[in-house]
Amino acid sequence: MSKQFIGAVDQGTTSSRFLIFDNEGNLVTFHQVELPQSNPQLGWLEHDPLDILNTVLECIDKTIHRFELMGYDVKDIKGIGVTNQRESAVAWNKKTGEPLRNTIVWSDVRTDELVHKLNKRDDAHIVKELAGLDLASYFTAVKIKWMLDNDEQVKEAVKENNACFGTVDSWLIYKLSGGVAHVTDVTNASRTLLMNLKTLQWDDQLLKFFEIPKSGLPKLCSSSEVYGEVKLGISLDGIPIAGCLGDQQAALLGQKCFAEGEAKCTFGTGAFMLFNTGTKPVVSSHGLITTVAFKLGKDEPAVYALEGSMAVAGSSLRWLRDNLRLIKTMEEVSDLAEHVADTGGVYFVTAFSGLFAPYWRDDARGTMIGLTSYTNKHHLARATLESMSFQSRAILDSMNQDAGTPLKVLKVDGGVSNSNIAMQIEADLLGITVHRPSMRETTAFGTAIAAGLAVGVWKSVHELDAVNEKDITTFTPKLTEQEREERYGVWKKAVESSLHWTD
Ligand code: G3P
Repeated sequence: MSKQFIGAVDQGTTSSRFLIFDNEGNLVTFHQVELPQSNPQLGWLEHDPLDILNTVLECIDKTIHRFELMGYDVKDIKGIGVTNQRESAVAWNKKTGEPLRNTIVWSDVRTDELVHKLNKRDDAHIVKELAGLDLASYFTAVKIKWMLDNDEQVKEAVKENNACFGTVDSWLIYKLSGGVAHVTDVTNASRTLLMNLKTLQWDDQLLKFFEIPKSGLPKLCSSSEVYGEVKLGISLDGIPIAGCLGDQQAALLGQKCFAEGEAKCTFGTGAFMLFNTGTKPVVSSHGLITTVAFKLGKDEPAVYALEGSMAVAGSSLRWLRDNLRLIKTMEEVSDLAEHVADTGGVYFVTAFSGLFAPYWRDDARGTMIGLTSYTNKHHLARATLESMSFQSRAILDSMNQDAGTPLKVLKVDGGVSNSNIAMQIEADLLGITVHRPSMRETTAFGTAIAAGLAVGVWKSVHELDAVNEKDITTFTPKLTEQEREERYGVWKKAVESSLHWTD
């Protein structure tokens, strides 16, 4: 049988990519383009939806060109999947297909006050009960509500019944399908605060709570089905769009955490640890959120996950590079950190825009403690890496308590996972084994799996059991239990300072 291929659009916070996998799960080729960022005010982060689309199209174009130079034929691409930065809110005009305004990105904190006000309402408890999420500025509904309250173009379009809302997957699928498919999948929808986690439908009580019109929302679909076909006058025209997942859920799938009890952590701009809890949503009592992990077909059951989200991970290395100019490239952090055996007593809580899981405090601020005249850049670099792992440790403790069975192995991916020292610190501070696969494009692979299942390239996920199992790098904890707990104790004090910095 000739080879079959699946394409994957991976639209992240800082870059867009298009990748092609073959039917044996090998990455064939890809292209990546940086995504322009806009910070109109302190704490605000926006993307132009046309930049989102155009960077994706550029990636498709360059990847296909390379694919053809390799001697392959586009007609052997059987389907494409989409995976994306989650929660970011997009609004566009139904008639013209043009954006109504810039996308409000997931880490944007302009809605902090709105969130405080909403949280004070007597009925605020319904949000966690129905959507499984904390009412925080992170999630989509408050961003849409902000647009409805503050943006004249959006207000006007709603009045004329011409407004379409969605997360980045909806926007991309809408455009790729030539305006035919206004859809989203249940993993992306489970981040909006608007979907009922049990019925997997838009929830009328939640829509009423946020005063968001249902008519502008996308149709809810599974993560693996044909939503439409590409119709944009590009080389992929006619190819089914058949997979859709939020990027962290896609990485869980791409890491092959198919079974209950398996977990992964992706270290991108932020870091996101997801733990597969099976077909029943587990409500966290320890600061985690409940999310849909994947639903691989219209008639398949949804699988859920507990998630610990960290707002800042790779972005703290960017901060060392761009704001402090301590390093020239982000990779240099590892070289600096390797020069010292410890941080010299420095602890760094990178709460640049509050702290996400398990603390959920938008008033927390970045805090560094333990500085002395002995402290140098090596210590700061190491403390920045440790910061990610201490937050992972806090999340792991919550997961272990919520799930009832302690995690033994954590699978890792994302840019920061390329650093050996960062992953050794992760194993040391978590006290469990860390596994890093050799092919780390797990996010894109996840949505390729979903698309491949929908178009029949694979019949079941178990056909992929052997994929990416060779050359796994294993990091085992080297700290003693006592050292680990002592350090974690000081970290907790540093977190206290970051929460009470104005006291
Ligand atoms: O929830 C936000 C997350 O989906 C962003 O991921 O990889 O773009 O930082 P990333």
